[in-house]
Amino acid sequence: MKKTIIITGGAGFIGSHVVRRFLNNYPTYLIVNVDKLTYAGNLENLKDVADHPNYRFERADIVDAEAVRAIFQKYEVTDVIHLAAESHVDRSIEGPMDFVMTNVVGTVNLLQAAKDAWKGTEGHVFHHVSTDEVYGSLGDEGLFTEHTSYDPRSPYSASKASSDHFVMAFYHTYGLPIKMSNCSNNYGSHHFPEKLIPLMIHNIQHKKPLPVYGKGDNIRDWLWVEDHASAIDAIFHTGRIGESYNVGGLNEWTNIELVRFLCQLMDQKLGRPTGESEELITYVTDRAGHDKRYAIDASKLKEELGWTPSITFEEGLSKTVDWYLENQDWVEQVTSGAYQDYYETMYNKR
Ligand code: NAD
Ligand code: TYD
Repeated sequence: MKKTIIITGGAGFIGSHVVRRFLNNYPTYLIVNVDKLTYAGNLENLKDVADHPNYRFERADIVDAEAVRAIFQKYEVTDVIHLAAESHVDRSIEGPMDFVMTNVVGTVNLLQAAKDAWKGTEGHVFHHVSTDEVYGSLGDEGLFTEHTSYDPRSPYSASKASSDHFVMAFYHTYGLPIKMSNCSNNYGSHHFPEKLIPLMIHNIQHKKPLPVYGKGDNIRDWLWVEDHASAIDAIFHTGRIGESYNVGGLNEWTNIELVRFLCQLMDQKLGRPTGESEELITYVTDRAGHDKRYAIDASKLKEELGWTPSITFEEGLSKTVDWYLENQDWVEQVTSGAYQDYYETMYNKR
């Protein structure tokens, strides 16, 4: 079947994997990547598919309602996979308003444009990509299910929770054919090196301090980014309209265990004596309102759609480290300019 799908945030970390997967797997789809190219968006992430005949790029800010409408008209958009967002919790603590604008206002602009363009006709999907952070913070026991009450605690998760509520409101109020997914922490190639795993890989490689927040005992549930892309593919094509699906790989690690594991892996790969990189670990002031633990119950997705993760964390981390070591040019390119100022400000404070 022919489709013209807008993928927002396609130049970012997860979006670039979704664009690549859809271009490679669905030769009858036209894929329109709509991205503002903020500090986190980089067309380098898609250079291998830039000349694909079914790929188009539109540089646009989703906060600009007219620009969004114009794209819907230009391409006669049939479907949306919405990933564009401000995505970094630490930045949301420094300044929440960009998160309100892109994550809330931008999402509502897209919903309005889809509602007006599709006018209740059949055969469309608006897939909203969200996070498990909307559920708040877990104690030692339990997992987030699709029925867990929303309890966002950071400005980032509050903005994503708000966007999720608008998505569901458009389904209930106007019958917009939405689907939603809430995923745990992703890792893999093309991950901007301000997030834990790529930042640690970068700093281990360059023998810089490894800033672990608080005691390092916060827990995250990590998923290979290509497995998230495969889950989005499954939900977009076969998930039920009006439903949300949790995505995760039952893979919980404390931050300190994870950083130690990365140190050991990189000591091996870089030919350093075992234990050398661990000496770089530096405990720093904790993040304000730091959520203790996230963990996803993905059984609905597994049972209804048959999705399972494809690789173990150990395999995925090894591939990820190899990618960063082989793509130093990419790291240098994306960490130049504005990012450098942010990095200096954040780390000089500690
Ligand atoms: P990212 O920060 O790497 O990429 C975001 C992309 O959105 C960038 O290309 C950026 O240029 C673009 N963008 C930002 N503001 C925009 C605007 N106003 N208009 C148009 N484009 C804009 O983010 P990511 O980690 O790839 O996350 C993608 C989505 O997945 C987000 O919605 C995020 O909330 C969600 N998510 C992320 C994770 C994770 O671990 N990274 C986990 C679960 C869900
Ligand atoms: P992050 O990658 O920012 O993802 P999120 O906050 O969305 O889960 O952080 C993952 C975990 O790592 C989180 O508990 C905060 C912690 N962390 C550090 O200890 N040091 C760091 O430099 C960063 C960026 C994060």
